[in-house]
Amino acid sequence: MFLHHSSFSPSRLALLARTIQYMADTTTSQSTLAYDTLAVHSGIERGTGVGVGIPIQQMAAFQFDSLQAAADEFQTNTGSSYSRIQNPTVKALEARITALEGAHDTVCVASGQSASFAAILSVCRSGDHVVATSSLFGGTVGLFNNVLPLMGITATLVPNTPEAVRAAMQPNTRLVWAETIGNPAADIADISTYAEIAHMQGALLCIDNTWGAVGYLCRPLNFGADIVVHSLTKWAAGHGSVLGGSVTVGQQHDLSRNSIYSESLLELHGNQALAWRQRWLAASQLGMVLPPQSAYQIALGLETLALRLERESATALALAEFLEQHPSVSTVNYPGLISSAYHTLAQKYLSNGYGAVMSFEVADPQRFLSRLKIIRMAPNLGDSRSLVVHPWTTTHGRMPEASRRAASVTPQSIRMSVGVESLSDLQADIDQALQ
Ligand SMILES: Cc1ncc(COP(=O)(O)O)c(C=O)c1O
Repeated sequence: MFLHHSSFSPSRLALLARTIQYMADTTTSQSTLAYDTLAVHSGIERGTGVGVGIPIQQMAAFQFDSLQAAADEFQTNTGSSYSRIQNPTVKALEARITALEGAHDTVCVASGQSASFAAILSVCRSGDHVVATSSLFGGTVGLFNNVLPLMGITATLVPNTPEAVRAAMQPNTRLVWAETIGNPAADIADISTYAEIAHMQGALLCIDNTWGAVGYLCRPLNFGADIVVHSLTKWAAGHGSVLGGSVTVGQQHDLSRNSIYSESLLELHGNQALAWRQRWLAASQLGMVLPPQSAYQIALGLETLALRLERESATALALAEFLEQHPSVSTVNYPGLISSAYHTLAQKYLSNGYGAVMSFEVADPQRFLSRLKIIRMAPNLGDSRSLVVHPWTTTHGRMPEASRRAASVTPQSIRMSVGVESLSDLQADIDQALQ
């Protein structure tokens, strides 16, 4: 993207300067601090009398002390005027996620589902096309199959391989979409190859990094992704108590072949254009607001994410190895297993372990689920408690049978999100339920 500074009016330059300053204030992407340190310090100001954590600002509106201040804020949206547009608690959470993903900017929204919708709409409009891998969260498949076609946006869902993604690209493809670790097959997206395929024809790559746990297991932007979405409901919040989502963008992306981004928009916002449009669309126009109370809980959850996932990943690996040897279990999908077809890709893209989720097949899921005594049946992930679900009848239940099978969901599949309980208790619970 080329910017011709000589063609900027003084007011445009001033606006650009204020926006860049705002980005610098809220971004810790250049930080060399470790994940654990960023998780507890990012988003918190320093100063006498300033709280040591992120405070809740449960306000709809914020004051201005002059007409000029009000006019400036409505031009730049860099401070706080009205909580649909920007709330200080949400802004602090956004700064924290930006730091943890090594990103450029983040907008937080009400749920992971709304984050996905906002991310797609930020680069696609009627007549555009998306290529997505098929092992996705069922709600995302629903967006691609049922909601986006209403708006004239089509999607092709393909197996999670570079060959299939490349073959599905069309001249009007604006977006390639994959999950870091697929749901529930635990397959790994070849992120850097997908980025190359997308960028070759001016499309962007969006990664749903929910299972990559806000940069702890994977930072897709480091591998060439342009947009990262999260369901913050999962490992970020971490205790199964609150819903939230985020859309995060990297520093570099080429929008020059996307007609939504007119020359004047690119000129006005420079490489902030994508971030600007996402905030404008998701917050201001669509009102997908994350409540400050939820932002506070998610920010708190992020502070212990590394500790929880370190434990959960170690337990998950031990349980996957145990299940793989168990005579009553036929298939175990977990990228940490050496036998996994995705182990090599997992070693390339994941750090700090292989995550807390696996799926496996048992002969009689109903019997197995009803016999569990500690592990609970609930459709969530990333809770501090271990949870299981039967994807065939629940999370993926509304999908056509062929789509479910394409996502490696069978009537025998069980998905388990491992919590922080002791390994021996979890293993004993599973063992007795399998007897
Ligand atoms: C990978 C993934 N993406 C997105 C979502 C949607 O998130 P939410 O439930 O917060 O809307 C989920 C929910 O389970 C998910 O697992």
